[in-house]
Amino acid sequence: MRMVDIIEKKRDGLSLTKEEIRWFIGEYTANRIPDYQVSALAMAIYFQDMDQLERAELTLAMAESGDQIDLTSINGIKVDKHSTGGVGDKTTIALVPLVAAAGVPVAKMSGRGLGHTGGTIDKLEAIPGFSCDMETTDFLHQVQSKGLAVAGQTGNLTPADKQLYGLRDVTGTVNSMALIASSIMSKKIASGSDAIVLDVKTGSGAFMKTLDDSTGLAKAMVDIGANVGRKTMAVISDMNQPLGEGVGNAIEIQEAIDVLKGNGPEDVLELCLVLGSHMVYLAEKASSVEEARKQLEEVIENGKAVEMMKVFIESQGGNPAVIDDETLFPQARYQIDVPAVEAGYVYEIATDKIGVAAMQLGAGRATKEDQIDLAVGLKLKKKIGDRVDVGDILVTLYANREEVEDIKDLVQKSYHMQEGEPAPTTLIYKEIY
Ligand code: URA
Repeated sequence: MRMVDIIEKKRDGLSLTKEEIRWFIGEYTANRIPDYQVSALAMAIYFQDMDQLERAELTLAMAESGDQIDLTSINGIKVDKHSTGGVGDKTTIALVPLVAAAGVPVAKMSGRGLGHTGGTIDKLEAIPGFSCDMETTDFLHQVQSKGLAVAGQTGNLTPADKQLYGLRDVTGTVNSMALIASSIMSKKIASGSDAIVLDVKTGSGAFMKTLDDSTGLAKAMVDIGANVGRKTMAVISDMNQPLGEGVGNAIEIQEAIDVLKGNGPEDVLELCLVLGSHMVYLAEKASSVEEARKQLEEVIENGKAVEMMKVFIESQGGNPAVIDDETLFPQARYQIDVPAVEAGYVYEIATDKIGVAAMQLGAGRATKEDQIDLAVGLKLKKKIGDRVDVGDILVTLYANREEVEDIKDLVQKSYHMQEGEPAPTTLIYKEIY
């Protein structure tokens, strides 16, 4: 086969065969095709798109390009969850013990974050002693014996995707639905679960800003799941404001624990119940999504969810006493209130700017090499629909530096007020099977 023929075929709007897709991914991963040819193909895909079968083949080829986690030694149906990322999104931290408490084995591979705040692994490391570094055999053993484990992604998961994503990033080809959907799904498939629940965010703090684009991505991923034999569903949830109140690492863990205790912010609890009930249903631990939700509400009420969080923390070397004593988390030296400079009802929060504010405090990484400060972040005291007077506290910053005028200014500019009360917000837009 010749790469130039494959590029020309896609340029002319024709579908690539399974053999052609497998060949170019294999050759590219083996460094036998130069970047400029793969860039040309990515641009052709960007303009000509891929049909459903091409997307499924590309996903499988990338999933099979490196290590694949074999979860078959764990009894039961394993369900993974993925979020396309948002500000203050701590749902995975709460969902892992919540769903495990309902009897669903959770074997989750997670990553570190780049941008707004840390990834799930960074956040979990805010628990003193907690580690996600483990050998695959220990990971599998922990899921089998305790019911849950979260491990850092192995170095060699989907190397084809890593290479291709790096190239797309610098060739203007990130924003192709076919390439985004197969990139995300390849990592999920390689992680070995039988079923996948996707949380596709939409709004100002999301990767996809419009409901149309978010729906398109959700459908593309659900279709790939169906075509590669993994039960997949997607929830489209709101990211027009940060989820919950806290943005940061230790701060988000504390909020996730509050959810498990039944006293977390309403939006985080609701999203966890919605995502969690689809996970329990897909794991066939309930005969309907409604019944699954009841089970989850029950494990929060009877304390089993928070008990499972304790098991989770202990199993991975952390200090479970953090559950009842927040002072054991890394503490920021300063708490600084940001007052409103304008009165009215909050009708819009520039969510991406709130994420940047948290990152500038040190809660996230601008480059892969940056060190995260696990203690810092912020808590939103006002959200969309709240009435605000001048001087009311919008946000409390948790900082390790006293001079934060730039961040205060950014937060104040992120809040937009209007005279009348805005329409109620929507948390869940769609559920797609
Ligand atoms: N996230 C991914 O993992 N891949 C993409 O292509 C875009 C976002």
